[in-house]
Amino acid sequence: MRPPRLRRLWRHWPWMLLPPLGICIALLVAWSGLINIAASAGHPAWMEKFLALAMRRSVEVNSKDERPPPGKADLLPLAAAHFHGNCAICHGAPGQPVNPTFAHMLPHPPPLQEEAGHWRARELFWIGFHGLQFTGMPSWSGKGRKDEMWIMTELLRELPSMPVDAYRAYAFGNAPWEEPAPEELVHRGMNLFPINTCDRCHGTASAPAVNAHVPRLGGQSRDYLLRALREYREDRRQSGFMEPVAVAVPETRLSDLADYYAALPEPPHSLPASGDTALGRRLAETGDPQRDLPPCLACHGEPKRSDVPRLAGQSAQYLQQQLLLWRTGGRAETAHGRLMARIAQRLSPEQIEAVSAYFAAAAAPDGLLAQGR
Ligand code: HEC
Ligand code: HEC
Ligand code: HEC
Repeated sequence: MRPPRLRRLWRHWPWMLLPPLGICIALLVAWSGLINIAASAGHPAWMEKFLALAMRRSVEVNSKDERPPPGKADLLPLAAAHFHGNCAICHGAPGQPVNPTFAHMLPHPPPLQEEAGHWRARELFWIGFHGLQFTGMPSWSGKGRKDEMWIMTELLRELPSMPVDAYRAYAFGNAPWEEPAPEELVHRGMNLFPINTCDRCHGTASAPAVNAHVPRLGGQSRDYLLRALREYREDRRQSGFMEPVAVAVPETRLSDLADYYAALPEPPHSLPASGDTALGRRLAETGDPQRDLPPCLACHGEPKRSDVPRLAGQSAQYLQQQLLLWRTGGRAETAHGRLMARIAQRLSPEQIEAVSAYFAAAAAPDGLLAQGR
């Protein structure tokens, strides 16, 4: 005699055939080629509505806990420069329509200067950071760099009310909007690409970087610059801003760029920084034995080491952001990164603020730092 549970199952066996049958029919339909997946055919109206509902609800629900980090610098120039190089090709930009090739994607990338206003900040952040499956909308290319996508979110929020001139001024930064004169190219000792790309964000001989989150490159050692560019290219240092640019530079031009910036007398950032600079100076010069912290200047001072970046004159925001990255497990995919990670993880939040303010204010020639003045 069968046990009662099995008997019940046996009585209902025709129902149990339904799921495998459903799967077989679905496979058969897919195999038959009857589904027209041509983008040119468009979606039927019911599917359009269904997909739009699913997308909106997924974004609303999943972005619920996202909050922007505290603190704001003038974020728009950096974000617009990135948008122009990486998003405008699909979405268009103020004064620039959507590229016709990408306008024929299904779903179409919407012009964000019109559509971004329909989303909350946390939703724009979530879409940009995670991307959208089945649409062609990519996720943020700097793995784990939520801080960067929040900078982009600020721009997306502003786009609907941004005049074309303001957008262009932000997007081109220190790069000339008009074609440069030939003598300028000769003066720089290189043809314009890719330096013009870098000028959209980084400093030049006459102007500092466009934004406090963009590091000063002038005066860094050639070796450090070259290594940093290679790390971005090889996805060993994460930044959604830098990785796409570094990959676009031809390998043969990397050392030209490193030479150019190593010799560039770039003006330092001149931004006010808050923090206890006296505490910062103590850390820089003597470290903190209680936390087993060596003095920063043991590596970052004189004599200059070619594998260690110079910190004096960098903005406090950039220094803090990199130290926070190390504390949260980022920038640790290389031996140099892991060395600094061990140091950054021993710093308290107050010490990070203080030491960043100290180095930001120490925009003097290297000698001054080395002498501890
Ligand atoms: C390869 C083309 C492509 C690129 C590049 C691209 N996107 Fe998109 N994006 C799309 C598509 C397609 C959608 C989906 C539209 C839909 O489902 O309605 C989308 C949707 C969005 C949305 C939601 C808007 C809405 O109303 O649907 C935002 C916000 C967005 N993208 C931001 C960005 C940002 C920021 C960048 C650059 C970092 C970017 N996108 C780069 C194709 C692209
Ligand atoms: C869209 C703005 C943007 C453009 C364009 C850009 N950069 Fe950057 N760059 C940044 C930002 C932001 C960082 C900091 C990224 C991070 O957190 O790692 C950075 C970092 C760097 C660093 C590392 C500096 C350090 O102190 O570690 C180098 C080197 C660099 N960029 C070189 C270049 C070169 C060369 C070009 C042109 C081919 C270029 N960048 C174009 C924004 C930009
Ligand atoms: C043992 C040597 C050493 C000591 C001591 C040291 N650093 Fe570093 N630091 C490095 C190296 C090497 C790098 C480059 C890391 C990389 O390439 O990823 C670096 C990079 C940095 C950067 C990133 C700069 C940039 O341009 O991206 C910051 C910020 C920094 N250090 C702050 C500090 C502070 C603050 C201290 C003191 C509390 C300190 N460092 C002590 C070796 C050191």
